Amino acid sequence: MQQLTATDIEGILQKANLFIKNKGPRVPFFLPGQEFICNFFLEPSTRTKFSFEVAQRRLGFEVLNFSGATSSITKGETLYDSLKTLESVGCRTAVVRLKQENILADIAESLDLNIINAGEGTVEHPSQCLLDLLSIQQRFSKFEGLKIAIVGDTRHSRVFGSHSYALPLMGFDCYICGPESMQAEHPKFKQVKLDEILPDLDIVMFLRIQKERHLNSLNIDEQEYFRSYGLTTERYKVLKERAILMHPGPFQRDVEIASELIESDKSIIFQQKANGVFARMAILDWIVNYEN
Ligand code: CP
Repeated sequence: MQQLTATDIEGILQKANLFIKNKGPRVPFFLPGQEFICNFFLEPSTRTKFSFEVAQRRLGFEVLNFSGATSSITKGETLYDSLKTLESVGCRTAVVRLKQENILADIAESLDLNIINAGEGTVEHPSQCLLDLLSIQQRFSKFEGLKIAIVGDTRHSRVFGSHSYALPLMGFDCYICGPESMQAEHPKFKQVKLDEILPDLDIVMFLRIQKERHLNSLNIDEQEYFRSYGLTTERYKVLKERAILMHPGPFQRDVEIASELIESDKSIIFQQKANGVFARMAILDWIVNYEN
């Protein structure tokens, strides 16, 4: 996200809205066999991987799916050498998800391959950020002045990594809530108590506890976490009538959000997933047609 200006973000969202309105591109961008793209996922994914793949197929890409477990990464090949191999066989774009942090930008600089970040450690998850902005825009038709709280494990969340840049840039009034050990520190996000801020919010976004990214073993009582930081039915009742409830997924029912609220009136969680396809089509359009 940090490579994008507010104008760039608005342009990508405008394109995503055009794809929504037209139910995709008017004609596929490419002829069969013309343009190869590889989904290069070294960490598990359901939403990001499949919505990128649907977006790619709808745009006319030839899709290659890389699996770390069956690739030569298992024989010690480096990330750079694996991506260079894709470049060498004629692939022009790779959508990459990986655990390591702060290496993707440098590798991208060294390759003649478009790299799309599909989630880099705790650093960034830009396509999630863009689909979230698209989903918020659909409800409010603006960003400036909207009050948003991100609740939970902001410290270990790459979704927060992207939002921490984009939300202040787009004019949101930003808050974070959660246990001290999981809270990020960011000058543009006020740390607040969930129950104090909840009635004032336009948007409340819950995050998964990123168990796999905690350095020390996590001794967490999930029932206690839910009581203190989860969206219970009591907390749901104090939300404003027009407020929306978001979660990037995967969610843990009855830990971050009460199971019966996942598809409640204020929840746009599955709309976020549907928008993922259109936001990712717009990202692919941006990368391939403009090669920024
Ligand atoms: N939100 C998200 O990144 O989900 P996946 O890990 O399933 O892609």
